[in-house]
Amino acid sequence: MTDGAGGHLSEAARTALELPDDERVARIRAPRWIGYTQALAILGQLQALLDHPKQHRMPNLLLVGDTNNGKTLIAKRFERLHPAQREGGQAVLVPVLVIQAPPVPDEDRFYSAILDALLVPHRSSHRAAQKQGEVIRILRYVGLKVLVVDEIHHVLAGHDAKQRQFLNVVKYLGNELRVPIVGVGIKETVRALQTDPQLANRFEPVALPRWEMNQDYLMLLARSPAPGACVSPCSCSSRSADRPPHPEPCRAAPQPRPSRKPAPAAHGSSGSRVPGASDPIHRRRRRRAGAAQRTSRARGATARAPM
Ligand SMILES: Nc1ncnc2c1ncn2[C@@H]1O[C@H](COP(=O)(O)OP(=O)(O)OP(=O)(O)O)[C@@H](O)[C@H]1O
Ligand SMILES: [Mg+2]
Repeated sequence: MTDGAGGHLSEAARTALELPDDERVARIRAPRWIGYTQALAILGQLQALLDHPKQHRMPNLLLVGDTNNGKTLIAKRFERLHPAQREGGQAVLVPVLVIQAPPVPDEDRFYSAILDALLVPHRSSHRAAQKQGEVIRILRYVGLKVLVVDEIHHVLAGHDAKQRQFLNVVKYLGNELRVPIVGVGIKETVRALQTDPQLANRFEPVALPRWEMNQDYLMLLARSPAPGACVSPCSCSSRSADRPPHPEPCRAAPQPRPSRKPAPAAHGSSGSRVPGASDPIHRRRRRRAGAAQRTSRARGATARAPM
């Protein structure tokens, strides 16, 4: 394959170029995990919880951020990194379980969500106390290490006493199993937890900040589309190798807003830095960026993986 037809792409991307259009479209649309700095840092914190030695008071975490910010994807990625496994004969290990909080703070529905996630048949007519016993028994049996409760802000759909009761159920489960609980939700959840000092000091809030135009965001844009994505001929084939590929329809990725300051002259007074080959600082930066790009390509499986 020549450079003009994807020679700059990875082996896997070049192979994908040969696929029929519908398969390439499906590939482009398939969800993809992109490991950006913040997400990787949070995954590191979740891993530390998983590795935490069992003790009577396990640390918990509350991951909060704006809607559509990637919180659920981080939780799902963590679960995927620690998949359920069969051990020996019939025993199944489930190190990480991600469930969605019921739409209203309801103990009974919370237990049902856990049993459903584990595909354990159960009667909805069973009382909460019965389900609680079953949930504890099964979660011990599967060796659960971290329980993630996504959309935990659903707790806010109930009045104060209901909220308190539901959060106590979550706390009780963590205490009983001696596993860390990770709540995931919008930042208003913090308020609900702070109404109870016992809960407030058990859940460390960790914020997933909003995206803004910075180096991380540009990296996300560069990595987000599937390589070899264009279905019909476009300017992709003629772009330079260091620019990211983009899917059809071809759109230029947003660029950081140019500075209003006039560009300094190329050979200006001492101290002025001009992005160009003659500037040693800039050259060093470009070399570093190139090395980072090569490293990130080598770690492609981690940085951009199917979900
Ligand atoms: N790391 C990532 N890799 C790839 N895509 C991402 C990533 N993070 C966020 N996205 C994109 O953002 C969208 C929203 O992510 P997600 O559903 O995890 O948000 P959320 O914070 O859980 O939102 P909500 O609070 O509404 O549930 C995803 O569907 C995906 O398109
Ligand atoms: Mg979500």
